Amino acid sequence: TAGRIEQLRQRNEETIVAKERAARERQHSKGKQSARERIETFVDPGTFVEFDAYVRHRTTAFGMDEKRPYGDAVVTGIATVHGRRIAVYSQDFTTFGGSLGEVAGEKIVKIMDYATRVGVPIVGMLDSGGARIQEGVVALGKYGEIFKRTTAASGVIPQISIVMGPAAGGAVYGPALTDFVVMVDKTSHMFVTGPDVIKTVTGEEVGFEELGGGLTHNSISGVSHYLAADEADALDYVRALLAFLPDNNQSEVPAYDHQAHRVVNDLDQTLNRVIPDSPNQPYDVLDIIEVLVDDREFLEVQPLYAPNIVIGFGRLEGRTIGIIANQPKQMAGTLNIEAGEKAARFVRFCDSFSIPILTLVDVPGYLPGTDQEWTGVIRRGAKLIYAYAEATVPMVTVITRKAYGGAYIVMGSKQLGADINIAWPTAEIAVMGGQGAVNILYRSEIKQAEEEGRDVAAVRQQLANDYTYNVTSPFLAAERGEIDGIIEPAETRVAITKAFRALRTKKVARPERKHGNIPL
Ligand code: COA
Repeated sequence: TAGRIEQLRQRNEETIVAKERAARERQHSKGKQSARERIETFVDPGTFVEFDAYVRHRTTAFGMDEKRPYGDAVVTGIATVHGRRIAVYSQDFTTFGGSLGEVAGEKIVKIMDYATRVGVPIVGMLDSGGARIQEGVVALGKYGEIFKRTTAASGVIPQISIVMGPAAGGAVYGPALTDFVVMVDKTSHMFVTGPDVIKTVTGEEVGFEELGGGLTHNSISGVSHYLAADEADALDYVRALLAFLPDNNQSEVPAYDHQAHRVVNDLDQTLNRVIPDSPNQPYDVLDIIEVLVDDREFLEVQPLYAPNIVIGFGRLEGRTIGIIANQPKQMAGTLNIEAGEKAARFVRFCDSFSIPILTLVDVPGYLPGTDQEWTGVIRRGAKLIYAYAEATVPMVTVITRKAYGGAYIVMGSKQLGADINIAWPTAEIAVMGGQGAVNILYRSEIKQAEEEGRDVAAVRQQLANDYTYNVTSPFLAAERGEIDGIIEPAETRVAITKAFRALRTKKVARPERKHGNIPL
């Protein structure tokens, strides 16, 4: 027995200790952590249990049989984060460039199957040169298996990707299919075809960073949901994110002990002063959100992309809610293609995982322009309608100011399935704003004023003011039952807390079908 135990110890020295020592040296010189260090930094101390530390590749081509490191190019296993179970894999760039060959693929597939079977979130840390060139089609096939499983697990368990190095070629679709993609500034890159290929094929010259760095994918392409300053920040963000998420689509959202909010307090009172007197003056919707959620703790998702809409997680009475809010501070809070797609995917995530949705509405309408029309605002804007209309989780909508036209319907209207819709007295609900409506409704009056030599601008303004006062008043919407109530802004937190508590048992039956056909 002693011999056998000694053999195990020796193998562990070789598989883990010696390999890890070398890996750390190489990664640290590039300002990165090793695959194993990243896991250790991420999970609760001492909870990581590794799978498949002894697997080795079976390739003989290109002299590969000379080099068969234990564990191959990925570390996989299970652990806990905040005391809750997760599954994790972390690609090891120091072994064959973290490339994915047959056995590395098998390891990832095994941990994904485990996570899906047990019903726990899976976190992937990516740092890889892509499909292992020496293994050819076998390596490509493993990507296919990973994509198939990621898709099958979508809406079943939360799937999170942290890109901490390169992710190139087909490999980018692994993270792309998951729910959240976090990228580390400067040290992570994602692209389908790299700078060299682009230059050869199109002649276009572009560097790694500009083409597919963290900033690019967070602010321009919308591929990534958070730009981390460094690796530690990336891991912190994902730990905070996991704390909001349920284990799987059958479990409830996590509930932390928190005092119920039953009485309007001083902080709530600040909401009575948040809406500026002039309708064209912006304000920061984050000032509202932070008052509404427990401990002012709001985890924003995709803050750099389509900033005209804000999405993220907060808690009410210790339970997670998802928040979607127009941001008047950016492009006056108009809806455009990017904002629609960003919010639509978020609504679908929340709906998949039983996370109730709070919508805060202050939207003057859609962003006008040929650019929007020609890039498909009709087709792509329809996604947000589809997402809300299909959602069955509890939904509460608060109209703080503008709710105009098609955008009013889209942003969590009652007709699309919201359960409780309330407005502040500052709400303006109508087909269009005063200025636009006056141009259409009072064309002859304006012409007449012109002919009589009166001050047309003043006439127009007066008509617009009258229209806004008479037609857009939330009391009209309340009279028709389009909204359920009008409240003082300061009462909002108490009101939505009551609403979500009341809606906990919401159930919606849907007719059987294979699946719908969301406009893509
Ligand atoms: N298959 C096998 N080995 C790979 C690999 C792959 N796809 N990608 C990288 N490696 C190996 C390299 O051969 C090198 O091995 P060595 O240390 O034994 O010399 C090691 O990983 C590190 O790669 P290197 O190129 O030195 O690192 P880098 O940081 O300079 O560049 C990449 C990283 C990812 C940009 C570069 O390796 C690359 O372009 N790889 C190919 C990407 C690709 O097109 N993959 C196919 C997509 S499906």
